[in-house]
Amino acid sequence: MIELYLDTADVEQTKRFNQCLPLKGITTNPTILAQSGKGLNETLANMQSVLGETPRFHAQVVSTTAEAMLEEARQLNELPYDMVVKVPATETGLAAIKLMKKEGIQVLATAIYSAQQGFMAALCGADYLAPYVNRIDAINGNGVEVVADLQLLLDQNQLPAKILAASFKNTQQAMEVMKLGIEAITLPVDVAASMFAHPSVKPAVEQFDADWKAAFGNKLSFES
Ligand code: G3P
Repeated sequence: MIELYLDTADVEQTKRFNQCLPLKGITTNPTILAQSGKGLNETLANMQSVLGETPRFHAQVVSTTAEAMLEEARQLNELPYDMVVKVPATETGLAAIKLMKKEGIQVLATAIYSAQQGFMAALCGADYLAPYVNRIDAINGNGVEVVADLQLLLDQNQLPAKILAASFKNTQQAMEVMKLGIEAITLPVDVAASMFAHPSVKPAVEQFDADWKAAFGNKLSFES
């Protein structure tokens, strides 16, 4: 089954969606945390309390050298959660991923804008790959095509890395990449809400309600 994440540091929204969706955990990045005004430790502790026992958290290093990223990853890996360390798939980041994998740290290669970039990260041992679907579309690329090409390369080379598709602005983008058989996806809160919203749903449910009350008043189904 696909792993479903929320791309957020908003604890209330995570609580809301955890009630109606099978969330595996949350993904964050430095921008998301900066905008929330809360640090990683406070955010993860709050997220753990609303998500229950074993959520998986993807949190990004902010160091800028491979050695410093490795040390930061070690510290993240010591946190009392199921942690995946996010590392931008730059030249430095790829070097850091190789070092982290020697120590058995779970790694997600992030900021992926091309299939070849993601493929290099997978060859370096990354456990997850995060192609930025909407950001690729926004620069006249084709995010879905990048994900399809990357999945093809993983399959052809029998690499275990999972694509965790990220950066969505609408459900169509999410649907297109899920149809490719990717193993994980992270959705921003507004796109998650749109997954089960359709303008025809509310009128349909209201019609059921009106028809029922006209015939049976306040009786429940089993009382009729
Ligand atoms: O976490 C990184 C990725 O999800 C970025 O999303 O919406 O900022 O393009 P966005």
